Amino acid sequence: MLKNKTIFITGGTGSWGTELVSQLLAKHRPKHIRIYSRGEHKQVEMRRAIPDPRVEFIIGDVRDKSRLTFASRGADIIFHLAALKHVPVCEANPWEAVQTNIIGTQNVIEAALTNDVKRVVYVSSDKAVDPFNLYGGTKSCGEQLILDANRYGDTRFVCIRAGNVIGTNGSVIPLFREQARAGTDLTVTDERMTRFFMRRQDAIGLLIKAVVEAEGGEILVMKMPACKIIDIAAVFIHELTRGKAHIRSIGIRPGEKLYETLVSRYEVPYTYDTGDYFVILPPGSAARATTTRYGKKNSSPALTEEYNSNYDAPLGIPAITALLREDGWLNVKN
Ligand SMILES: NC(=O)c1ccc[n+]([C@@H]2O[C@H](COP(=O)([O-])OP(=O)(O)OC[C@H]3O[C@@H](n4cnc5c(N)ncnc54)[C@H](OP(=O)(O)O)[C@@H]3O)[C@@H](O)[C@H]2O)c1
Repeated sequence: MLKNKTIFITGGTGSWGTELVSQLLAKHRPKHIRIYSRGEHKQVEMRRAIPDPRVEFIIGDVRDKSRLTFASRGADIIFHLAALKHVPVCEANPWEAVQTNIIGTQNVIEAALTNDVKRVVYVSSDKAVDPFNLYGGTKSCGEQLILDANRYGDTRFVCIRAGNVIGTNGSVIPLFREQARAGTDLTVTDERMTRFFMRRQDAIGLLIKAVVEAEGGEILVMKMPACKIIDIAAVFIHELTRGKAHIRSIGIRPGEKLYETLVSRYEVPYTYDTGDYFVILPPGSAARATTTRYGKKNSSPALTEEYNSNYDAPLGIPAITALLREDGWLNVKN
């Protein structure tokens, strides 16, 4: 499905994009990968890090539909990753978030339909479920635009919903590591907070698998372990400060929830289990996903209640330590 294909990635220089490009090149033999983003500096750095002639870089903004349509000509598959994703930034700049995350997504849809792209994959977030902040609201609108787009041509559009990926730009893990190394307190907003967490390699592996298997019109939901944020802080304190630093609560931020949800209670009746991920089929929509494909394998819905970061027992300290150690976050020399 990906072999010999031209793959266009909006936001390909970000955390997800760089891992996606590495895995595509290592395992899937694409013909070309075209990366579309605004910042020249990040593109130059990435070209240095991945000097593969199959990878091309194009400067452009997802808000600019004509540039996007021109740049994505000949693409077989689009991964739409570009977004403004920091909750406080989106809260403070709502119109900027709307233009990039909603209008930008509609531009990607129209460019894909114009260019007869075979498949478009949109990466959404747990914050899109029952959204409480503007970032989540824009990702929820993005999901709806993507699902609806299945009506207008032969392009198959699919959403992937994921929780936090360990160590991505702006996540709590680099912050805790920096604080622990500086010997200052580790700041958590609320000690009750839980979040879904997954390693970047695993999330991207699942993203590629889901893309190959999806029919169009579904929301694929990554099954992710969850943990308490204070347990992550405790691991850094133990491992990097030998217990000398402390956790300091600084109060919940505007738009922040105590836990995140990947499948809402309203979606439970349409949610099926495929093994590595859940699939939410569109209830009575004109989208193309066939209920039989997933319904035959799974005759009854997979969940009885919403799937949130308190759904399963949280990862314990030893499991969190192992995850962080495996990815080098506890290495003092890095
Ligand atoms: N990180 C997570 O844990 C997580 C979890 C769930 C879902 N997601 C979703 O996954 C996607 C990727 O996240 P990430 O962590 O990789 O984000 P990131 O590291 O912040 O990367 C964002 C990328 O988008 C580009 N971009 C931003 N605005 C753009 C615009 N207007 N036009 C074109 N490119 C633009 C950025 O490059 P320039 O700034 O140079 O343009 C960068 O390449 C996002 O859609 C996010 O909502 C992330």
